[in-house]
Amino acid sequence: MTLIPGDGVGPEVIAAAVAVIEAVGVTIEWDRQEAGAAAFKRYGTPVPAQLLRSLRATRIALKGPLETRVAEGWRSINVYLRRTFDLYANIRPTMSFVGVPTPFRNVNLVVVRENTEDLYSGIEHEIAPGVVESIKVITARASRRIAKFAFEYASAHRRKSITAIHKANIMKLSDGLFLKCARAVARGYPEIRYTEQIVDAACMRLVTDPGSFDILLLENLYGDIVSDLCAGLVGGLGLVPGANYGDKGAIFEAVHGTAPDIAGKNVANPTAAILSSAMMLDYLGYQREGEKIRAATIAVLRSRKALTRDLGGEASTSDFTDAIIHGMSRA
Ligand code: NAI
Repeated sequence: MTLIPGDGVGPEVIAAAVAVIEAVGVTIEWDRQEAGAAAFKRYGTPVPAQLLRSLRATRIALKGPLETRVAEGWRSINVYLRRTFDLYANIRPTMSFVGVPTPFRNVNLVVVRENTEDLYSGIEHEIAPGVVESIKVITARASRRIAKFAFEYASAHRRKSITAIHKANIMKLSDGLFLKCARAVARGYPEIRYTEQIVDAACMRLVTDPGSFDILLLENLYGDIVSDLCAGLVGGLGLVPGANYGDKGAIFEAVHGTAPDIAGKNVANPTAAILSSAMMLDYLGYQREGEKIRAATIAVLRSRKALTRDLGGEASTSDFTDAIIHGMSRA
């Protein structure tokens, strides 16, 4: 398996996830690879050839966040990896945890985000000084397969409803196509309730009635933004895991970025990375172990004894990780 510690808080939270996997009794032979700023420093490129070789061989990775500069520098390596390995489905399960202070209760939703196209296709050009075009690409093929993934996921996880989120009142052709494909796929799953909502209204409903959502099906950009909003509902970015699935592989990573403001201080919340690693174990067939990690993490949060700073506590990344490992050893 490829292990990408990443930039910023990445090495800290990934070390926590690796320690928890080891403690649950799953032995994984990691092929440790650098990417992003860490790789650039060492090899002069943010995507070294050996990283791509490793991913081509393993097809599965646990990954920390990678730095991408704003309005300059290299294009996002995350986007590059998702597109290169056709990891078209980004899944971000977001749930409330007892013990985590937040005004919202009973959030239990899953963001299903199309991961390969939309405005993230990176087709941008200056057509005249002061005039820039950025092209939004939506295809029927990608829209159908992400909708299919969402419905299959809903069936497999006994989820009851899917809301497609869009702005087809303005982007009638592109978001209109996305919806047309989602509706066609929905007809094959009559047992799952399918609804649609315009993205701005959906954001308002997310913060007034988040419990009314189950699975959210979104294009790439809306999915990216709404994921962070959803993380805010349950206590912050330190808590929400994620996976990027394709037909032939997957990369597991937290929703959060490199968190440069807290990097290197042993204070980052490793929950998101640890829960991402539990998703990886599920994918590898170690569901029992994945479940054990989830249960121990939920229990540590509920006990409020080792909360990290982002959740109002004083525990360090390693205190929190040790508490999970200790909890699993007693289970
Ligand atoms: P960010 O997610 O790194 O940080 C936003 C806020 O959340 C910060 O206050 C940070 O301290 C907090 N936070 C994030 N993770 C946390 C954790 N585990 N525990 C406690 N607090 C946490 O987003 P930002 O600042 O917009 O991006 C920083 C860098 O990360 C940028 O270069 C960006 O491109 C990159 N990024 C990479 C991603 C990836 O590799 N998948 C995803 C998102 C951003």
